[in-house]
Amino acid sequence: MWYLFKVMSFILTLGTAHGAFRYKRSVNPEANMNIRQIISYWGYPDEEYNVVTEDGYILGLYRIPYGKTKIGKNSAQRLVVYLQHGLLTSASSWISNLPNNSLGFILADAGYDVWMGNSRGTTWSRKHMYLKTNSKEFWAFSFDEMAKYDLPASIDFIVKQTGQEEIFYVGHSQGTTIAFITFSTIPKIAERIKVFFALAPVFSIKYLRSPLIKIAYKWKSVIKFFSGNKAFLPNTAFKRLIGSKLCPLKIFRKTCRDFLFTLYGYDPKNLNMSRMDVYMSQNPAGTSFQNILHWSQLFNSSYMKAFDWGSPALNLIHYNQTTAPLYNVTNMKVSTATWNGENDLMADPDDTGILLSEITNLIYHKTISYYNHIDFLFGLDVYQQVYQEIIDIIQRNI
Ligand SMILES: *[C@@H]1O[C@H](CO)[C@@H](O)[C@H](O)[C@H]1NC(C)=O
Ligand SMILES: *[C@@H]1O[C@H](CO)[C@@H](O)[C@H](O)[C@H]1NC(C)=O
Ligand SMILES: *[C@@H]1O[C@H](CO)[C@@H](O)[C@H](O)[C@H]1NC(C)=O
Ligand SMILES: *[C@@H]1O[C@H](CO)[C@@H](O)[C@H](O)[C@H]1NC(C)=O
Ligand SMILES: *[C@@H]1O[C@H](CO)[C@@H](O)[C@H](O)[C@H]1NC(C)=O
Repeated sequence: MWYLFKVMSFILTLGTAHGAFRYKRSVNPEANMNIRQIISYWGYPDEEYNVVTEDGYILGLYRIPYGKTKIGKNSAQRLVVYLQHGLLTSASSWISNLPNNSLGFILADAGYDVWMGNSRGTTWSRKHMYLKTNSKEFWAFSFDEMAKYDLPASIDFIVKQTGQEEIFYVGHSQGTTIAFITFSTIPKIAERIKVFFALAPVFSIKYLRSPLIKIAYKWKSVIKFFSGNKAFLPNTAFKRLIGSKLCPLKIFRKTCRDFLFTLYGYDPKNLNMSRMDVYMSQNPAGTSFQNILHWSQLFNSSYMKAFDWGSPALNLIHYNQTTAPLYNVTNMKVSTATWNGENDLMADPDDTGILLSEITNLIYHKTISYYNHIDFLFGLDVYQQVYQEIIDIIQRNI
């Protein structure tokens, strides 16, 4: 209730205030840009591809083939690093800060071929071969389908395009969840992964503290009502306007911060508050109600399960069994390195502890005491705490 109230009042306040602030202060130009524009704004080569999944979704896949240092620009052997965003975010996660503090640019400058995926339903992946975007059928998906179709399609595409047989995978939040599922259920994709870097990994969510999922859990019936019907928090042009035009204004800063906090958890000391307009205009990037419902089904459970379609008969149709099947991460053989934060509301340290004991090939693990969910993307010191170590591990595993 509190969350819905907050969102409502947020939108109402900004809606009415909007006209009054036409002559806004200057903002970071990236707040009004798409992924390609942000990449080229900072002087990097940008490429965009459409990937079609087996079930017809058209995903926006973005690439920074090399960096400004042009290390290995002409080499045919540039190693591929694939970046997969989390819940309600998009590929913009990796390029939202200055180049020296954004993983996408840092990896490109370190000589890697950087690819950034977008899960179905986010701002940049909202097309389908034959379904209309506003149809019920289009939105009838959760992270099950992102693991089963989106990830394999994107990885197969990259392998074909680059000729690289093996790639490095970096996931954040739900971007780790779908990797755990794909890599433990589809061996042919798992074999392609040299090292899986899991930032703020999420699997079972027995101890999760995030208000977003908790409220969805309490309001399951409402979510269910919308499920399979519509987008959840889509990033419309209107919201981009709110983020870019109004967040920089002092009196709205607190509201913008609270909104972000409600969704992901945050710590103002480790964020560059001058970039709030970029974060707010690019996020939330939307997903399906069914995906939120799926997460709320898992709340307070020790297990990670596929989406429960609501009745034994429907589950039988989808899974050939009356209950939703369990995902078991112990089946995953991929070398995995993880970083988690003790203040993370989504990836609770207790849940992470359970997950770590189930990863069979854990090659590195670090807990950062003051980190929350969003620091892994936007933290001011994330280069020193995490990204530098990722590059070190890549270099040791070539
Ligand atoms: C990135 O560059 C900005 C501006 O030059 C600087 O203030 C900041 O400290 C740098 N960040 C890192 C992580 O090096
Ligand atoms: C914070 O963001 C502002 C606005 O984009 C930028 O000018 C500044 O260099 C950034 N500071 C750091 C430490 O990255
Ligand atoms: C979580 O489950 C336990 C028992 O399995 C129950 O006692 C507890 O009330 C549940 N918590 C919530 C928030 O539903
Ligand atoms: C469905 O499950 C039954 C019994 O568990 C099994 O015999 C059958 O082969 C399964 N069908 C398919 C299509 O997997
Ligand atoms: C996962 O699989 C392993 C090995 O097959 C088994 O020991 C374990 O009990 C399974 N975990 C769950 C939660 O089913």
